[in-house]
Amino acid sequence: MLRETELLESFSVADLYAWAVGLPDLPQQLDQGSTFGEPPLTLYWGKRFVVDAYTWFSSTTSIHQHAFTGAFGVLEGGSVHTTYGFVEEERINSRLQRGRLDVREVEFLRRGSVRAIRARREFIHSLFHLEHPSVSVVVRTQRDDEYNPQYSYLHPGISFDPFFMDRVNGRSDEILRALARVDPERYADVVADLVGGSDLATAFFMVLNAHRALLEHRQLFAQVQDRALSVHGKRLEPFVAALDRQVRDRHLTLLRKKITDPELRLFIALLLNVPTGDRILALLGARFPGTPAGRKATELTGALLEEASLGFSLDPLQMELFELALQKLPFERMLDEIKRSYDDDDVERARPTLTRFLSDLSKQPIVAPLFA
Ligand SMILES: [Fe+2]
Repeated sequence: MLRETELLESFSVADLYAWAVGLPDLPQQLDQGSTFGEPPLTLYWGKRFVVDAYTWFSSTTSIHQHAFTGAFGVLEGGSVHTTYGFVEEERINSRLQRGRLDVREVEFLRRGSVRAIRARREFIHSLFHLEHPSVSVVVRTQRDDEYNPQYSYLHPGISFDPFFMDRVNGRSDEILRALARVDPERYADVVADLVGGSDLATAFFMVLNAHRALLEHRQLFAQVQDRALSVHGKRLEPFVAALDRQVRDRHLTLLRKKITDPELRLFIALLLNVPTGDRILALLGARFPGTPAGRKATELTGALLEEASLGFSLDPLQMELFELALQKLPFERMLDEIKRSYDDDDVERARPTLTRFLSDLSKQPIVAPLFA
């Protein structure tokens, strides 16, 4: 219906807001306290289905599934949309499973794009909004208990109930979050003790909460994690791997917050979501058909490193080397290529510096996905 009516092309986001504030009363809102959307807005409330509009100025959605069916369409802005498959390998309980999360498809959505939403694991997805604001309209059924829980996912393969995560210790979760802000050291001690006496699933949820609460206190977080590992051993290791991946992604997610340039945001979206360098290059090639994908990736990497203020930037020679490295050429072949445009002796003299450059580069978490 969303697609056929061309409804999304018939009004702007400003029209939508003006219409909503002009109503004598807003329709019943789907979830008054929800933070999903900046803001979320229910446009139509029915017993069987609702129509919502979600505005996003900066946020990105987690990898998640749904306890309802319907469709969403882009009213304003654009997004990188990724869909996933999950194969369950170990069911810890109904709140937590371990398995394999694979990226199925990565695509660009723009104004007018419409996609179906299916319930459960048939449709696992994430959205990374490229423009500010990005607004989507969702036509959907009411939440169906049969489809609960609405799992979220972490790479490389964790499926968990995020609504349970917020209330793993009942009321105490709020107190723990407050304690983390008041006295992070005391918080780490308390959580380490709680984790020491918990079952595997509860320990994971507490460690995940601690991971978020102690983002600025990695040493303290390491204490909590070590305690959990000492109690649960090897069974907890895949869950810890998921947190390591989050740490890797954090450099990019922090950059995402401060960068507004759509091309750079698109590049960050690809680095965060696309598992291999080859696929990133293929998507860049599709998005920027006028420029070779390796060149585009190199230019964007140069700009990103500058924005990241890591004390790491690319001069023209390094740019050339980087582009060749993306082709995964052996080092000697790269030097031969560079000698076409630079003096042979100069390149030979620069050999140790270039070797070090490539080794330092491979350790930069920001660019690591390009070489995967
Ligand atoms: Fe969704």
